[in-house]
Amino acid sequence: MTAAPEAEARATCAPGARGVGCGKVILLGEHSVVHGRPALAAALPRGAQAEARALEHGPSTARFVFADARVDVTSDPEASHPLGRALCALLATYESAPPVHVHVQLDLPAGAGLGASAAMGVAISDALDALTATVRSPSERATQTLAWERVFHGNPSGVDNTMAAVGGVALFTRGAALERVRLRQPLLLVVGHSGEASETKEMVALVAQQLEREPARIGELFDAIAVLVRNARLALEAGDLRALGQLMDMNHTLLSALMLSTPRLEQLCAAAREAGALGAKVTGAGGGGCMVALAPDAVVAERVLTALRALGAESFVAEVGP
Ligand code: MEV
Repeated sequence: MTAAPEAEARATCAPGARGVGCGKVILLGEHSVVHGRPALAAALPRGAQAEARALEHGPSTARFVFADARVDVTSDPEASHPLGRALCALLATYESAPPVHVHVQLDLPAGAGLGASAAMGVAISDALDALTATVRSPSERATQTLAWERVFHGNPSGVDNTMAAVGGVALFTRGAALERVRLRQPLLLVVGHSGEASETKEMVALVAQQLEREPARIGELFDAIAVLVRNARLALEAGDLRALGQLMDMNHTLLSALMLSTPRLEQLCAAAREAGALGAKVTGAGGGGCMVALAPDAVVAERVLTALRALGAESFVAEVGP
């Protein structure tokens, strides 16, 4: 981590170019998506914002502002902070970009399974494109920001940065074209933070180890999740929220079988169901981080929110799509 006040002072004279990236919630299919199965994901209305300014000379620097911390980094492939290495990886995707200073504001909890790193990478790419007059489609941005995501997650499926760049609700399969999902009505999701830190890289490695040890059993489990995902897509398109909720619960059971839930996440999911949620599950990498519950209407969403907050969980309601 390197403080860069001088670069920032030099950067403040020129107007900045702005960019945004969305957070995401995986409705079904996390982890199995790393191994080629589909996942159903929704972009969140909140995420990250970036502002990029050209510098007269390098090196490029960035300031990241989180709810409870501020991190200053210099772009460097050997930087001790992963954000410095990720910035370097992203800048390397530009043929000719000037040295820059980037200011990034994150409006999501980090390390919680809501795609915070992808939202930041996409926001920076969007700002850098505006600064350098680069024209890039959202799906091209999804491909470009994989370089950023690899720094944090080792072997990312690409679902987080794709949803961060493209938005909406979609069925994502690694290496295949993104399939947009048309919703009948907006979805009301209640997201609750367990308060437990979760490292995506470690959780992905944990599942990969299980697959290596028991390829047949874990492969079948992934296939079962894929069936749930495809049915969930049909339920979404038919506007059948009750079925979607049941499929989320089933997916949660299979994620628990992969040792991705925790007693705290179980407690929050149970409280959400008790308060009227149609389904509730771990979302993202698991092992901590967040859970997501599906509410049938705003009154129940409020009740679920109150129940989660009564257990001390930082929570919010998100309305996603159509
Ligand atoms: C993380 O948000 C989702 C995982 O499936 C990892 C990935 O898809 O890269 C756990």
